Amino acid sequence: MKFGIICVSDRCFDATCKDQSGPAIAACVEALSEENAYRLVPDETETICAALIELADHFGADVIFTTGGTGFAPRDVTPEATKAVIEREAPGIAEAIRAKSLAITPKAMLSRAVSGIRGKTLIINLPGSPKAVRESIEAIIEVLPHAVETLGGNTQNCGGNYGK
Ligand code: MTE
Repeated sequence: MKFGIICVSDRCFDATCKDQSGPAIAACVEALSEENAYRLVPDETETICAALIELADHFGADVIFTTGGTGFAPRDVTPEATKAVIEREAPGIAEAIRAKSLAITPKAMLSRAVSGIRGKTLIINLPGSPKAVRESIEAIIEVLPHAVETLGGNTQNCGGNYGK
């Protein structure tokens, strides 16, 4: 699988902080990954949209993970940027992440993360901390291969026989 990883953070972008969450994502998906592309962008809707479009349409990512910008702070706009570029919502993924995360910390309800589909790319928002990244990916990683297979048009392993 090809993964896009986008760190959304003003502080990492201006080099006040070093991004630890992007590398945490790469480590979590290492066993599934053939190729990763990484981008670091500030908390600006247009820049986030441009990075999502580039990694989906030109790099051809199967899955893009964003990290950061999902909370309540005034500059947290990652979900809005994601909603602007997706063609179909995939709410079950964000729901699964929040459900499993809520069993770990009530602060999980403070993430407004969304997930959705652009072309053949699944886009998944994650919160900004490396801890939250690991907990969130753990909640959904087992379904990623099937999700990507289905997005590519292969529904052989979907289980239903639709009456045949
Ligand atoms: N989800 C998990 N699994 N673990 C966490 O520690 N932290 C929460 C939440 N989701 C957390 C989590 C916190 S403290 C915040 S403020 C929100 O994610 C939003 O984070 P963000 O603004 O960095 O995206």
